[in-house]
Amino acid sequence: MTQSQLNYDTISAEYNQRYPSTFHWERGDALLELARQVDAANVLEAGCGTGYWLNLLSQVTPQLYGLDFSAGMAAQAKNQPAPLKLIRGTATQLPFRPSSFDLLYCVDAVHHFGNHEAFVEEAFRVLKPGGALAIIGHDPHSGDFDWYFYDYFETVYETDLHRYPSGSSLKEMMNRAGFQNIDQRNVEHVSSIHDGEQVLRDPFLKQNATSQLALLDRETYEAGIEKIMADLREDGRKVFKSDFWVRMVVGIKP
Ligand SMILES: C[S@@+](CC[C@H](N)C(=O)[O-])C[C@H]1O[C@@H](n2cnc3c(N)ncnc32)[C@H](O)[C@@H]1O
Repeated sequence: MTQSQLNYDTISAEYNQRYPSTFHWERGDALLELARQVDAANVLEAGCGTGYWLNLLSQVTPQLYGLDFSAGMAAQAKNQPAPLKLIRGTATQLPFRPSSFDLLYCVDAVHHFGNHEAFVEEAFRVLKPGGALAIIGHDPHSGDFDWYFYDYFETVYETDLHRYPSGSSLKEMMNRAGFQNIDQRNVEHVSSIHDGEQVLRDPFLKQNATSQLALLDRETYEAGIEKIMADLREDGRKVFKSDFWVRMVVGIKP
């Protein structure tokens, strides 16, 4: 069984802080559009976490399945308003019969699955003909990626390059698995600028808020924070940028 290096049980209680009720997520629009396009009756999210996206898709269908490795995240998903069918397991060995789903997707999760190719093959197996696989997340391999985390925290960029499949490699995997109409597009622009000390209020800067920082040992994390503080002491108006695209790679099972 491929395991996430990060134990999400330890951060599940705080995880939903990243989903403030006032924020509109364009990746959610892309998911809804795809679900309607394939007339999705049965939907599976692999690595569903706290079930935020499944709950959104209750606008399209009530048959919502969520698979996750972490019991803590699944416990949070039970609190979503939409009733979700939650299963504990790994995305590289999906515990479902062939031809079960019209839409299978993951959001911000494929980099935890370890064997990306095994996941894509499993997705092909459990999708119905005409069903869609959508893999949504950012791509540190892309050239237009600017995230101050990579400048301040040692090893984070290299680890991400290793964990995240590039868009083109995902397309090749989908092609090898038998998917057709494979397409990749940017679905959400993440853009925030923190001026000077404001950066210290970036909620993602907490060590448990992202897997990038949660995977660091305490010393490396604190060294990154100290590097930020040193730059602030030198220039109190320094700008810290997060500027990148969230991408969706889609393939259709013929
Ligand atoms: C960053 S969270 C994303 C959760 C949710 N998709 C979202 O966007 O809010 C990644 C999730 O993937 C789960 N995960 C990690 N490895 C997994 C695996 N091999 N199989 C299934 N789920 C896994 C983690 O437990 C965690 O809930």
